[in-house]
Amino acid sequence: MATDKTFYLETFGCQMNAHDSEKVIGTLQHEGYRQVELEEDAGLILYNTCSIRDKAEQKVFNRLNDHKKLYKAGKRFAVLGCVAQQEGEKIFERAPYVSLVSGSASYRKLPEMLVRLEAGETRITGLDDRQTEETFETEFTSRQNPYRGYITIIEGCDKFCAYCVVPYTRGKERSRTSTSVLAEAQRIADQGYTEIQLLGQNVNSYRDPEGKRSFAELLAAVGEVGGIRRVRFTTSHPRDFTRDIVEVIDQVPTLCDHVHLPVQSGSARVLKLMAREYTPEWYLERISWIKAARRPISLSTDIIVGFPGETPDDFIQTMDLLAQVEFDCVYGFKYSGRPNTPALTMIDSISEAEKSARLQVLLDRQREIQRINYSKHLGQVMEVMVEAHNPARGQIIGRSSQNKPVNFTCGQAIAPAPGSYMQVKITGTHPNSLTGESV
Ligand code: 5AD
Ligand code: SF4
Repeated sequence: MATDKTFYLETFGCQMNAHDSEKVIGTLQHEGYRQVELEEDAGLILYNTCSIRDKAEQKVFNRLNDHKKLYKAGKRFAVLGCVAQQEGEKIFERAPYVSLVSGSASYRKLPEMLVRLEAGETRITGLDDRQTEETFETEFTSRQNPYRGYITIIEGCDKFCAYCVVPYTRGKERSRTSTSVLAEAQRIADQGYTEIQLLGQNVNSYRDPEGKRSFAELLAAVGEVGGIRRVRFTTSHPRDFTRDIVEVIDQVPTLCDHVHLPVQSGSARVLKLMAREYTPEWYLERISWIKAARRPISLSTDIIVGFPGETPDDFIQTMDLLAQVEFDCVYGFKYSGRPNTPALTMIDSISEAEKSARLQVLLDRQREIQRINYSKHLGQVMEVMVEAHNPARGQIIGRSSQNKPVNFTCGQAIAPAPGSYMQVKITGTHPNSLTGESV
């Protein structure tokens, strides 16, 4: 029985998961647990997992396998997050040394589940499915990021894109009240954070349960919290991307010059198969709003290649869209069939080799686009927020408002702390980063 109240937690996957972990850590600490750095030193080992693609899902089982020998030493294992929700009790069959399996829609019950764990129960589950209306709000968040305060404003997903596991792993869409979001933003500011990132699977599908603020109004209100200098938000869905979001970025200086708007494909036919509920023209109209803003808003996107039935011509249309938009960053993925999803029943006749080839063509082209986009910053002076240091290279690593990585040198004997702001003159450009010196 685990009387030793120490824990080790490892996170896989997206920023939502990273932030869920901050809340889980805070909850564990409030229940008297102490975090340790090594699996070997922990009484309770937790993995917060991701199942977005097959490779991500395999990671947790590899990790469990690597560490199952520790079980003999009386340790307990818990699997949290998307793989937990997706696989449920099957995890106990595959890894019998696991005692607790909980999806993110059940984290509010963690204190109760921990009590049962401490009492020696071995097959504890928190597997609330899409019935859950509640969000996981806690005042005990243990913020692990030194410069960015995350706030989840909307949980779950109701979009059901044909390829995506998230509606099944994170439950149905539910928003927090804007009053509670703003109270958290104020707490973050009081703790000294100057950057806030609002999170949601479809962050702009936000609907205030109190009806006080639209998503754009909430963005503005967060941006006006005293002490906050940068506000980011991710991920936006094109379906719910309204023009007032661009207007508010133009109006409120603290809102960052960046929108992440996943397109997934440039082919109307594939978008339809994907159940994305928009056409390339609809997407490009939103891009034109963003490009027409007074501020230079950078654009990033996600693209899936090799979706079942994607023809060479469909892929060319994705390449055309890439050339037309000239994104500043593209996350490209090979389609990966996921449990429960409608796409799994479609014929996935595109070989792995063909998927890899398409991805390579896409990434090579995008690299050239970025080389040109980034070169336009040469000679500019921009505000950079310090994120980390690279002492080996004598460099400071930071990020511009447009979300571009900036590596720079500064004359100061003591390197500026993460979270500080510097004016940097750009002296070199690359396809994925900028270099410069502080002025
Ligand atoms: N296969 C490949 N990529 C996927 N994504 C989501 N589901 C899948 C899948 N089954 C990608 C999408 C999404 C990003 C987070 O991951 O591009 O926007
Ligand atoms: Fe992975 Fe999606 Fe779950 Fe995030 S929400 S952890 S990306 S499966």
